[in-house]
Amino acid sequence: MIGRGGSLPWSIPEDTTFFQNKTHRHTVIMGVRSFGEWPSCVRGRDVIVVTHAPSSLPSPVQAAASLTEALAKAQTLHGDVYLCGGQRLYEEGLPLADVLHLTLVHTTVEDGDTFFPDWRAHFTCETARRESHDARWRYTFLTLVR
Ligand SMILES: NC(=O)c1ccc[n+]([C@@H]2O[C@H](COP(=O)([O-])OP(=O)(O)OC[C@H]3O[C@@H](n4cnc5c(N)ncnc54)[C@H](OP(=O)(O)O)[C@@H]3O)[C@@H](O)[C@H]2O)c1
Repeated sequence: MIGRGGSLPWSIPEDTTFFQNKTHRHTVIMGVRSFGEWPSCVRGRDVIVVTHAPSSLPSPVQAAASLTEALAKAQTLHGDVYLCGGQRLYEEGLPLADVLHLTLVHTTVEDGDTFFPDWRAHFTCETARRESHDARWRYTFLTLVR
């Protein structure tokens, strides 16, 4: 489960910092709802938003009508390409990705409405693991390859 009511079900500063540092100076691809949650990602990153309504996007965000189109555009932009959700992009992108950076939050959310696909069929080899926590949440940073 990765979302509830259009937001993340948790707020974990260490994970936010990890995510921002990891993607800084690279290219991120995300769905239009996820972009709405993180519009400031344009600072320090090339951003491609997948949507059929490109006119709603601010400059310098690039629009793509599909993941395939987004990946083609990403080849002309900076650094590595990170797929940053939501659900459909993760479902379509997981079979294509080389590396999975996964933060597992050890909690149960009853009313979640957005989900991450089962990664275990695609990513079987764990290359890094770090346990962490804050006052409210316990979580594990994982890096996996095929
Ligand atoms: N924990 C995480 O890692 C994480 C990451 C990201 C988001 N989230 C959470 O997930 C939720 C948002 O994700 P979401 O799945 O609801 O929405 P989303 O993927 O961010 O946006 C959905 C919209 O993006 C476009 N779109 C997305 N994928 C597409 C594709 N493959 N092909 C064509 N169009 C595509 C469509 O827009 P049009 O209708 O304009 O065509 C679709 O209606 C929020 O709750 C957010 O907090 C969690």
